[in-house]
Amino acid sequence: MNITKTVELIQSRSKGLKPKIGIILGSGLGSFVDVLEHPISFSYDDLDGFPAAGVSGHEGKLYLGNVKGTDIAILQGRVHYYESGIPDEMLIPIRTLAGLGCETLILTNAAGSLVEEATPGSVMLLTDHINFTGVSPLFGEKEISRFVDMVDAYDPAIRLTFHKIAEDNGIKLHEGVYMWFCGPNFETPAEIRAARIMGADAVGMSIVPEVILARHAGLNVAALSVITNMAAGMDNEVLSHKQTMENANIGVKDLKSLLVGFLESYS
Ligand code: HPA
Repeated sequence: MNITKTVELIQSRSKGLKPKIGIILGSGLGSFVDVLEHPISFSYDDLDGFPAAGVSGHEGKLYLGNVKGTDIAILQGRVHYYESGIPDEMLIPIRTLAGLGCETLILTNAAGSLVEEATPGSVMLLTDHINFTGVSPLFGEKEISRFVDMVDAYDPAIRLTFHKIAEDNGIKLHEGVYMWFCGPNFETPAEIRAARIMGADAVGMSIVPEVILARHAGLNVAALSVITNMAAGMDNEVLSHKQTMENANIGVKDLKSLLVGFLESYS
């Protein structure tokens, strides 16, 4: 796998776009690409080492474009650990973003909430995470750089910027710690009670391996979860992927305002 070649291929077709920010769009959030001006897209299938995107709601395309004066790259679609049992499926896409010149990676996903006030359709800015899977995407890495410092992995300065944008736009932005469960089954109510005791505010099946890979690649990171449900056992809803997709649609409006505001502030 030759990342330099992939980067060169993308740059040769990028019409001068020089992305400084990368964004990964999670389940039901792919429509954010509609805000791109001058979009150029590549199918993951045409990019060496990129995964084939799996779950419905995940498209499998890399976009380059401009939003409010800032060139960005978007990964529309991720691969989850539960799809293959391989934790570093997003390694090549994330290193490609770094190779294209991105300094910052904004991750988005759908998550279940453990906080009564953070109801479905709302957005939570992540402050930290708990890796409950025992798995790292850096297993097998040989260089000393594999010992990645995870303090302030979710960049405090970027978090402040998001809070300011939320305030300016009248958006209630929750904040909390995300706990990574490997899925694909949802959690049991007992697991959610355990998660709460351990300090989790939200649970989900993604983001954490990408945060680790991004920090390893030297990128600044921020993450926004769209709350699609209360976590297992907190209400009488039956958890399903269909519900995740429907409620992601409700939260996508605020997510879009937050992301566009951030990109505007970056230009
Ligand atoms: N658990 C795990 N992943 C999720 C959830 C959840 O409750 N909601 C959306 N993704």
